[in-house]
Amino acid sequence: MRHEVQVRLIKQLETHLDAGTNVDAGGLMLNPTRVYVDPELAEREWNEFFVHHPQIVGLSGDLAAPGSFMTIDDLGVPILTTRDNEGRFRAFVNACRHRGAVVENRERGDDATSFSCPFHNWTYSLEGTLIGLTKGDHFGDVDTSCRGLVELPAAERHGILWIHPDPAGTIDVDALLGDELSDEFESWNFDSLRYLGGDTYDVACNWKLAMDTFGETYHFPVLHSKSLNLTFHGNVQCYDTFGRNHRMLLCRREIDDMLKLPENEWRVTTAGLPAYWLFPNVQLLPSEFGAFLVRAYPTPGQTGRHVSRISFYVWPGTEAGSSAETAVRTISEMFASIIRDEDYVVAASQQRSANAGSLEHVLFGRNEPALHHYHSTYRAALGMPPLPLLDDHDVA
Ligand code: FES
Ligand SMILES: [Fe+2]
Repeated sequence: MRHEVQVRLIKQLETHLDAGTNVDAGGLMLNPTRVYVDPELAEREWNEFFVHHPQIVGLSGDLAAPGSFMTIDDLGVPILTTRDNEGRFRAFVNACRHRGAVVENRERGDDATSFSCPFHNWTYSLEGTLIGLTKGDHFGDVDTSCRGLVELPAAERHGILWIHPDPAGTIDVDALLGDELSDEFESWNFDSLRYLGGDTYDVACNWKLAMDTFGETYHFPVLHSKSLNLTFHGNVQCYDTFGRNHRMLLCRREIDDMLKLPENEWRVTTAGLPAYWLFPNVQLLPSEFGAFLVRAYPTPGQTGRHVSRISFYVWPGTEAGSSAETAVRTISEMFASIIRDEDYVVAASQQRSANAGSLEHVLFGRNEPALHHYHSTYRAALGMPPLPLLDDHDVA
């Protein structure tokens, strides 16, 4: 983030802290609880936001060098992503062109020279080309040049990896991010982040409830009274939208001392924790040490269930502790103790009440603008009527 933007945001936090105020969405919003349980809506979301929408699947550091690969099984089609011999990010349908077996079954690796199908050992290059057809003299005279893995659209920009699960789909990164966010991401140098490790939470809540937990700091002094609230000021944040995406800036308590320093020494990652919400299902949180990437995926056929995939990254030169393994364990335990064991426990309880159908609506406050924006955004994307902004006294 450019330094002038950092200073502007930090001054906003300072103003809120001094005045005891927070961002104000300009009104309240009633959100129907059925959006968390409606199977017809879930199916539309699945088709519009996942199967037929570009997907962020990681950061450049996930595929550090030629031979690195990741498999993805959250989007209805088995996907294999690689860094090819020329360093290019590629994505393929992870299905063998012989009889469709999944070719690569490991979640990730960094030393592949090719991919061999476990069924009859047809072998594909990092570029997806069929380079080995077992017993070709017995099998038949197949034109191997036509039997490579089906390639999927893939794009890498600002250190972020996008794929499209549909071979005929397109990825327009400029349109997905917009100029302002593209410019901001350019200055973060996310491409230098090193992948450290990851975790998966399978939670009995709708994927949007998982996203909602990242949408305000109003709950910090209560739900996180013994965790995040010790290092963050709750009830204060900066908030900006970028088309369908947005950025919250959470406020660290370290801001109190940092504000005594000259402005040219101010750092947004000391004063706060930026949380980028990238439509439709991603949270990207860069910090002083690295970044967290959270991807939430619906569980098809179960509106009240989702999977969150968490990835941890560190900036180059960051001392990761005694070993990378220890660092991953420490970071993932810390993240799980807050997000999985506090936020997502509440999200699952919200899901239970939504399932019961006894509440027609839930209420988004003036101090929860990210929730207003997010729910308005996906509703607009699905052609659903907007949720009106209500005056305080209009909320029954
Ligand atoms: S299905 Fe892959 S080699 Fe036969
Ligand atoms: Fe939380």
